[in-house]
Amino acid sequence: MLFELNVKSAINPVSKTEYGLVTFYEPNKKKKSSAKINNIPSYLLKNLEDKETDYIKYYPDKGKILVHFVYKIDKEKITQDYLRDALAGAIQAFEKENVSRLYVDLNLDNEYKIFNSIEYMLQSAVEGIFLGNYSFDKYKNEKKRKKLEVIVLHQNQNLMRKIISETAHLIDAVFFAKDLVNEPAISLTPKSFFQRIKNKLKIAEIKVTALTKAEMQKIKMNAILAVGNGSENPPYLIKLHYKPKQKPKKKIALVGKGVTYDTGGYSIKPTNGMYEMKADMAGAATVVGTILAAAKSNLPIELLGYIPAVENMISGKAYRPGDIIRSYSGKTIDVKDTDAEGRIVLADALTYACEAKPEQIIDFATLTGAVAVALGVYRAGVFTNVQELSDKLIDSGEKTYELLWQLPFGKEYEKLIKSDLADVSNLGPRWGGAITAGKFLEHFVDKKIPWVHIDLAGPALSHDLNSYSKKYNTGFGVRLMYDYLKNF
Ligand code: BES
Ligand code: ZN
Ligand code: ZN
Repeated sequence: MLFELNVKSAINPVSKTEYGLVTFYEPNKKKKSSAKINNIPSYLLKNLEDKETDYIKYYPDKGKILVHFVYKIDKEKITQDYLRDALAGAIQAFEKENVSRLYVDLNLDNEYKIFNSIEYMLQSAVEGIFLGNYSFDKYKNEKKRKKLEVIVLHQNQNLMRKIISETAHLIDAVFFAKDLVNEPAISLTPKSFFQRIKNKLKIAEIKVTALTKAEMQKIKMNAILAVGNGSENPPYLIKLHYKPKQKPKKKIALVGKGVTYDTGGYSIKPTNGMYEMKADMAGAATVVGTILAAAKSNLPIELLGYIPAVENMISGKAYRPGDIIRSYSGKTIDVKDTDAEGRIVLADALTYACEAKPEQIIDFATLTGAVAVALGVYRAGVFTNVQELSDKLIDSGEKTYELLWQLPFGKEYEKLIKSDLADVSNLGPRWGGAITAGKFLEHFVDKKIPWVHIDLAGPALSHDLNSYSKKYNTGFGVRLMYDYLKNF
């Protein structure tokens, strides 16, 4: 973390000591709320009004305000992420300022419709304050963590307090997912992944268990076993179960690709492509974070989580291109490329998830580079035959700014993964690689269960969409899924 952060709320700034201030300001508004921009020299305000500037920074020479950041609200340019992104950036900027108390004025002049609701507008701002504080610094010897008290100003104190406490729970789950995706594979093996999940999710309503290698051998989960075989670190099928106190409205299964490291196997990756593969369990991290967030807020949805946790390595025991695997479902897989391992482990996990007869299955996987070729890294790909399900997820994605985009998923793609030797091939042609990967998964899902596949290979890794997705892998999908489940 950048700071030892403490977020509170108040109606007005009352401070004996000097403090920082963040305000939002909409230029050219007829009635200029003078309190917000008092004492700011007009040439600075003019900068904000005229130019491409997003914010100005001002150091008043008298009074209690040590430094004042004014963020411009441009009605034409504002997005659902504006407050979140700006405040995350502000928290990061305050690392350089000498303040230990910061007021953030969230009494905005307008109700900006883009935010869906006033509550969510405020929540997105509070999320930004927390998200800006994230860093993955456990391996740095030098950690200078100053205290920072952030006091959110708003007229409605009851509402604000509720939002702060709910958001703190949510972001704790997001940070757990971020910590998992940033952890190097040397210290996040399938087994230690399981143990870390067990330790963190010690909540009465959650059960965390796992099938061991021996147990998977007994029931012939050969797809997971094949991919895991090349590693000294044996595979696990990690299972999570959140059963709410109240009667659940729905039972949903979440399945996440948990490849703790992907060398590509014998279809080995080049060095450049391998560097980021500690994050190939990002889908699993999304599942874990979502279940944690749901449980902490007592959401009335029963959640099942399934994580095939394996390391895709090379050794005398590793699986090879040309191998044919009989999966847990009984269907056989023609291994044409050992680097398309995610779909192989998900095959068994999806079959297993279907046995629990959930009302929906949503899977998350850093499945293909092809999805990022198609969409760039700002959006995850969505694949489904159940349109209303993906519509809801896409809406939550816009709101939380964990953006999704739907790709085609028609029958015409099915023939691309036919094999002469087995029931299905794990490799399609070059074009449409994200779609054929999804089509492979479809083979292992019970047709009667509504299912959505989300390929988050782009946005799960650090990128430059906003101030809080830079530097570190993101934990993409937890806020999105929490919103989706909360609004059932
Ligand atoms: N884990 C990778 C996909 C990936 C790529 C995730 C970049 C995050 C960033 C996956 O297992 C993989 O290697 N997929 C292959 C599939 C191909 C062999 C059909 C790919 O995308 O090249
Ligand atoms: Zn791979
Ligand atoms: Zn992979």
